[in-house]
Amino acid sequence: FEVTWDAEEAEKGGYEHFMLKEIHEQPRVIRDTLKGRISHQGDKVILDEINLTPQQIKGIKKIIVTACGTAYHAGLVGKYIIEQLVRIPVEVDIASEFRYRDPIVDKDTLVVVVSQSGETADTLAALREARRRGARVVAITNVIASSVAREADDIIYTWAGPEISVASTKAYTTQLVALYLLALYLAQERNTLAAGNITEILNELKAIYTKAQEVLDNEQPIKEFAEKYHQAEDTFFIGRGLDYAVALEGSLKLKEISYIHAEAYAAGELKHGTLALIVENIPVIALATQKSLFEKMVSNIKEVKARDASVIALAMEGHTEVEKVADQVIYIPKTHQVLAPILTVIPLQLLAYYMSVCRGCDVDKPRNLAKSVTVE
Ligand code: G6P
Repeated sequence: FEVTWDAEEAEKGGYEHFMLKEIHEQPRVIRDTLKGRISHQGDKVILDEINLTPQQIKGIKKIIVTACGTAYHAGLVGKYIIEQLVRIPVEVDIASEFRYRDPIVDKDTLVVVVSQSGETADTLAALREARRRGARVVAITNVIASSVAREADDIIYTWAGPEISVASTKAYTTQLVALYLLALYLAQERNTLAAGNITEILNELKAIYTKAQEVLDNEQPIKEFAEKYHQAEDTFFIGRGLDYAVALEGSLKLKEISYIHAEAYAAGELKHGTLALIVENIPVIALATQKSLFEKMVSNIKEVKARDASVIALAMEGHTEVEKVADQVIYIPKTHQVLAPILTVIPLQLLAYYMSVCRGCDVDKPRNLAKSVTVE
């Protein structure tokens, strides 16, 4: 009898892969990232780490979010929420584009740099470029004293803990939490939302981790969808508004670890080209969590169903109308529609994970990819 003990196996805590472990850690790390940042009464955001004066906050004319990969996708969600809640124009730029495009940035620009590792070469260069041009830089990062943390003016740490899997999951959801807190903080300081609205969203945010757990507990239909469609060569993710931003992240996850060609489209753009690629049985993942865009999404699902695609839809509980048009529906628990991305991304992470497992891929270490890209 021989006892074999493997440090890596032990760290996986009983999960087959780090990615699955990290997906399941999300309720806890979302809660950790919120801890101490919402007042007891649930009516105020406390972000002591932001050292901007009230005058500086009022003086912000433009916000640019810059990042790479998954962090860039978090930034896209950030654009929707900041513009909606704070009414400041937001640009989101891939760091490798931002640094070389002679960006229009000055002292009235707030640049938000998002980086899990805080060491991505392009993101760091974008940060330096922004500061050189006089912008104030807020960093959202997961690694204490990382290069990005050391060089930014203000830091909002995500408390995701170490992320080992190359495909990012818990870092993304905690980046979203940080962006919600930043958006609500700016809304509070600039008075762009009624106090009641801030309280309503904050209370929903406080409850979001229990809802994330509910999503995790409902993984069976996703597993079955993956078993059925893992041999697909092409897949499409469609959505509108915030759902479109999440669709981009869902398609990236699938590409990274299962090597299936996945494209995310703003659903309204389908008829401008992509519809030509929709053929019988092609898997389409349709995100329809946004109440104001729900009817439009139902029409888009009908469009792809008319070409015999196999549609799995994600909708918020209660929106059962989607069952009439999609082949399968995954419901996410009801929440404020602005917060839906935190929940919607979880089934997409699980989908990518199970597709990758079914195809026999190396889930945690996908070919050609690195966890942190510290050279250009
Ligand atoms: C690499 C990783 C991605 C990550 C991106 C940005 O490509 O594989 O998962 O999103 O870098 O990394 P960062 O550490 O800056 O968030």
